[in-house]
Order: sequence, then structure tokens, then C-alpha cells
Amino acid sequence: MNRITTLIATAAAAIALTGSASGEIINLSTPGTSMVLDATEGQPLRILYYGDKLSAVDLENLEASPLAHHEAYPVYGIYPQGEAALSVTHADGNRTTQTEVTGVSTEEKDGATVTTIAMRDKAYPMELKVNYKVRPGYDVIETWVDITNNEKGAITLNRFMSGYLPIRYGDVWLSSLYGSWANECELTEEPLTHGVKMIKNKDGLRNSHTAHGEVMFSLDGKPQENNGRVIGAALCYPGNYKLMVDTDDSDTHHFFAGINEENSEYHLKKGETFTTPELALTYSNEGLSGASRNFHKWGRDTRLHAGNKERKILLNSWEGVYFDINEDVMAGMMEDIASMGGELFVMDDGWFGDKYPRNVDNSSLGDWVVDTRKLPHGINGLLETAKKNGIKFGIWIEPEMTNTTSELYEKHPEYTIKAPNRDVVKGRGGTQLVLDMANPKVQDLVFTIVDTLMTKYPEIDYIKWDANAPVMEHGSQYLTSDNQSHLYIDYHKGFVKTLDRIRAAHPDVTIQACASGGGRANWGVLPWFDEFWTSDNNDALQRVYMQWGTSYFFPAIAMASHISASPNHQTFRRIPTKFRADVAMSGRLGLEMQPKDMNDEDRAICAQAIEDYKKIRPIVQMGDLYRLQSPFDKKGAASLMYVTPEKDDAVFFWWKTETFMNQQLARVPMAGLDPDKTYMVTELNCIDNDPLPYEGKTYSGKFLMANGLEMPLTYKVDYHKNTDFASRVLRLTEVK
Ligand code: GLA
Repeated sequence: MNRITTLIATAAAAIALTGSASGEIINLSTPGTSMVLDATEGQPLRILYYGDKLSAVDLENLEASPLAHHEAYPVYGIYPQGEAALSVTHADGNRTTQTEVTGVSTEEKDGATVTTIAMRDKAYPMELKVNYKVRPGYDVIETWVDITNNEKGAITLNRFMSGYLPIRYGDVWLSSLYGSWANECELTEEPLTHGVKMIKNKDGLRNSHTAHGEVMFSLDGKPQENNGRVIGAALCYPGNYKLMVDTDDSDTHHFFAGINEENSEYHLKKGETFTTPELALTYSNEGLSGASRNFHKWGRDTRLHAGNKERKILLNSWEGVYFDINEDVMAGMMEDIASMGGELFVMDDGWFGDKYPRNVDNSSLGDWVVDTRKLPHGINGLLETAKKNGIKFGIWIEPEMTNTTSELYEKHPEYTIKAPNRDVVKGRGGTQLVLDMANPKVQDLVFTIVDTLMTKYPEIDYIKWDANAPVMEHGSQYLTSDNQSHLYIDYHKGFVKTLDRIRAAHPDVTIQACASGGGRANWGVLPWFDEFWTSDNNDALQRVYMQWGTSYFFPAIAMASHISASPNHQTFRRIPTKFRADVAMSGRLGLEMQPKDMNDEDRAICAQAIEDYKKIRPIVQMGDLYRLQSPFDKKGAASLMYVTPEKDDAVFFWWKTETFMNQQLARVPMAGLDPDKTYMVTELNCIDNDPLPYEGKTYSGKFLMANGLEMPLTYKVDYHKNTDFASRVLRLTEVK
């Protein structure tokens, strides 16, 4: 091992390089994982290994072991049969690319170490830099590529993936998320078989309704939550993506992830560089939950905006009053949420529009002025009411959009996305259009919308940023005719640029990413957003499923989860308040209803939930997630828990997902506790006449993880209060 030179001492010896018989071996090392590359000059970059952290002896002898020596970033052209991460048409029309490593460098940036392997085409002055970012303490490696054109003329990028990973053929299973509006984050688990599995998005804006740009690979057969080797991959991009697993006739599943290149070929002028979004990779030998914990910790600490700041408990006005906004109703809602212990009120859609009042969804987007017919004392009046009630105030906007019925559209129809010689294609309300964020004037406009709000009303604490339309026709009125294929990519370049400006000017305001519900749950937006709206469906039973899937890649702190009315407005299911509260408390708790519609008992349950949530908020929002029993396994109940990193405090959630008489449900063993610690059980949100038999009792972590605690299938309540739902929230506090 003495021939390995540790180059980076500062970043916990994250990177080690070694000269070897075949050249330069790079060991990207994190606390629990190693990725090993062969960056021999004059050769293509190769990946030798990704998995459990290698010992010195295994690292030394890696090349002799029968591991695949795949290119780390395969390119198209020579032996063009296989899939490639990059495909280029050079300035002279040549469609082949052939790379060789020219050097390796490392850079310390913001506490992370970036290793860059420089490559060039053997015959053309096109440069490729493959980057790997490692942060001390995190089992996540971020990879991305810079492509620089030094050729005589423009080159065309036909495919430009962020990264590639070969996964050894075996009993490998893929876990991925699919769904649709109001049914986000359904889970699919499937063994990888021969052929291509493609997961893609072509919406233009909302990239997480139907499928997700994140996946997990279970390497040891059917996925398990707390056992087995798992590789996780999350593309950090807000736009159209493509994730592809090609299982060919070799011994390998070839995994590619990046921007969806379809109808997006990119022309790179001489001297220009194209940078792909990051692909975040993780590996865990603690099953799916272990990979999720890696993503959560990395995400909270390094990617999510204000990821370590506790989120407030809020009431959002949407399902309570929809567009029926007025001063009295807003004031009533603020009083009500304050009296229940909430901390923030968010006024949703319907507050704006002068010439065209926003009374339904068919007008006014773009006209971000207060409708003083509804709110005579304006935003200031509302801010005062909030202050009087001791809570903060937040507001809804949809800044990337307009309606044909709006003053903005009357003045600037050229700001919208539209193809020439076609009728304008309209969305929501029959009038909604998307503004063209590729256009710098639109970028300025969107920046100014937020900047004006925040400058005029600096006390605004929270913005719900919505986006309720896809790209409805391929056409930018800003881009030149030969660069129309840049629309999808330049939209997001403009979007991100604008978000950068907004965050530079307004770092403290909490911003939620909403896009027709859960359309923007992705790591590509979260550096600027504090959370996302998980779904427009608040039905607590369906949320058990949706939030389960969401938690594969995103931490609870970012997952907005609200108690809404019963019957539910989407499914019409009637679910008791206790169960609705118990589900909402497993994410970022809020309410989404008119509190005036609640009876005293339901209001008391909500107030209790808010009080209890404040106690467990640090555990839920910052703790480690252990998913225990999946609702997708149809075992009659679902269960998960959060544990503090010190393992001295935990919250156990259990929700019954179906009800049959004399049903026998398995007891759920817990996970993540310290076997040698003793924990005291306290039930939260308790509605029973008698406490659970475990109330105030103590158990060892070892016992709880081996056996769990038996959950009664019903509550002990007065006869007429029985329902077909049951759930429990238990806090487990270390007794010293
Ligand atoms: C979208 C959002 C909702 C709500 C409405 C307002 O559908 O997902 O939460 O804000 O817009 O029009």
C-alpha cells in the first residue's frame, strides 16, 4: 500500500492516487464507500470499482480481481454498437469521438474535493472533463462533465449524459418511482432483465409527476429496506431527463443518467463549454433505507436550501377556501392556526390581479398586484394581522406563467413559449401560457416579481412558488431558428440563473417548490428551495404510499405534508383526524383546510398534533430514517421511524392501511436504535381512554429491534368513535 500517495489530507484523505503498472489509479473514498478509477494518460478513463470501502490490501490487488474495466464515460463512434454517454458531431461532420486522459487534478472547494480527469479527443480539439466531488463525512459522490469545443466551428452535442455506471450482472433489482398528478411517487421494484429500461421526462418544467430522475439498484436480489447492497442515483436537474439501463449481451447493466437529449441537440460554438447537471451516486450495505439516509444527510447538509433549519408548522389556505380570498377570511384563518399553536399562514392563489381579478384559474398570472377589492388593506394589512397573532405570513405566486387574459400578456405576448405559424396552445383555465425563461428579459421579470414582493414586504416569511403548466409547444420566441433545440435546456439555465439572483438578494425567505402538486420534487431545484409540495392529493391513506416513495430520495424536512379536510377533496375518503395528523407528522407538518369547518374535538386533535410535533420536529426533520414495513408490500400496515444521530431519541410511526375483522398483522421490529441503550415509550397524539400498556415503560434497543411492540388494531375509545382507521406515533427516549 505504500505506493499509494494520499494527496488530499484535508478532506479526510478522500482521494488517493497511486502509480501502478497500468498507470494512475484514483481512489475516491468516502466514510463507507470507494470508487476506483484508472486514469492512465493516453487511455480512456476507466472505472474499476464502486461499492463498500476497500481495505488497503483489496485496493492494492484490485486490478488482479475479476472486476470489469469499463470506460467511466463511454463515448460514441468507434465500435458504435453499445450505448454511449456522449455523442458528438464534430465541426467537420465526423460523428465519432475517441478519448484519452490528459491529466488529473484536484481542487478543494467549499469543503469538498473535486477530482477532475481531463480528457481530449485523440484527433479533435474537443476537451472533456469528468468531475467527481467528494465531501468529507458523506457517502455520496457527485459526478458531472464539462465539454469544451476548441474546434474550428460549432459542434453538435447529440447526447450528453451526466454520468455512467456499469453494474455487474446478477440478481439486480431496480426501484424507481412513477405516478401522475395526485398519485405521485408510486414505487416499482423489478428485476433487471435484458433489454433497455428507460425512465424519462419530457414535460419541460414539471419533472417528478410521472416518473422520477432518481433510482436505486439492489444488488442482492429483491430490495430490502435494511439489508443488502444498494446503489442509489439521483440526477440533480429540474428539466427533461433520461435514465437508462441497458442490459446487453455482456456481463453488465449499463446505467446512464442525464438531460434528455431528445429534441435538445445542443450546438456548442467554438470556445464554449457545456456543463452537465450533477449525478449524485451513493452506495450502502444497509439496504434501501441506508441509501436513503445517505441521500438525506448529504441533501440536508449540502444541497437543500437552509437544510438544517427547522421548518415552521403552517396553515395553507388552498383547500380551505380555494379562490375565495378576502381580508376577513384570511384574518380568521390566521387566528385559528395561531390558536392551535401553528407558526405560519400561507395565502394561496386568488389574491392578485387589478384589471383582471383572479377569481378562477383562467386569468391574471403575471399581474402580481394585490386585488384591493378582496384585500382593501393590501399585504401590509395581512402582515399586521399575522403579527398580531404572533405568526409569520407567506404568499403564493406562479412567476414563470401568464394567462392570455392578463395585462402582462397584453403587453408582452413575445415573452411566452410559442412556435411560429401555430395557434398558441393554452393550458390550465383554457388560457395559461408558460413564459420563456430562456429569454433574459423574462429572467429579469421573474426576478423582479420576487424581488418587488420581498422589498416591499420584507416580513414575508414564505413563498409558495407554483408552476402549473408544461411546455405545450416546442418554440422559443427568443432563441434563433437554428437554436430552437436549445429551448428545454436554456429554459432551465435561465430558471437557475434567476434563482441564483433571487437567493443572493433574499437568502432567508422560505420557498416551496410546487408544480401542480409534486411536479418539482428533485435535487435540481432544492439548492434554492427549502421544500417541495409533495402532492395535490392530501388523502392520508394515499399519502402513506406517496410519502414512502418520496422518502427514498428526499428527507422529511423537505416533504410538505398537510392535514386536510374529511371527506378528502381528491379521493372523497373519510379518514379520522387522528390518522390524518399521524401521517402528516411524518413529514413537514402543516394544515390545508378551513379550521372553521372543524368541530372542537378535531381542532383539539390538531392542536395536540402541533404541540407534539414541536417535540419531535428535530427528530423527524433532522433525524435518520429507517423504513420498516412498506405499504407497497400489502401487509396491512406500514411503519417507519426516525432516530437522532446520537440514537438517544426516536419516533416510531405505524399506520394501518386496511381493515378486516380478526386480521392478524405481523409485529414490526424496529431499527436504528442502539441495542445497548434503554428507551422509554411515550405515545403522541393519544386519543384513547386508556394508555397503551407500554406507556412510560422502558425497553432495551436490542429488544425493540428484535421484537418491536405489538400495536393494537383499534383505539380504546367510546363505541361511537370507532373507525376503520388506526395509527400510532410513539416516542422512544433514552433513559440514562
Ligand atoms: C396548484 C397547486 C395547489 C394550489 C393551486 C392554486 O394546483 O398544486 O396546491 O396552489 O395550484 O391554483
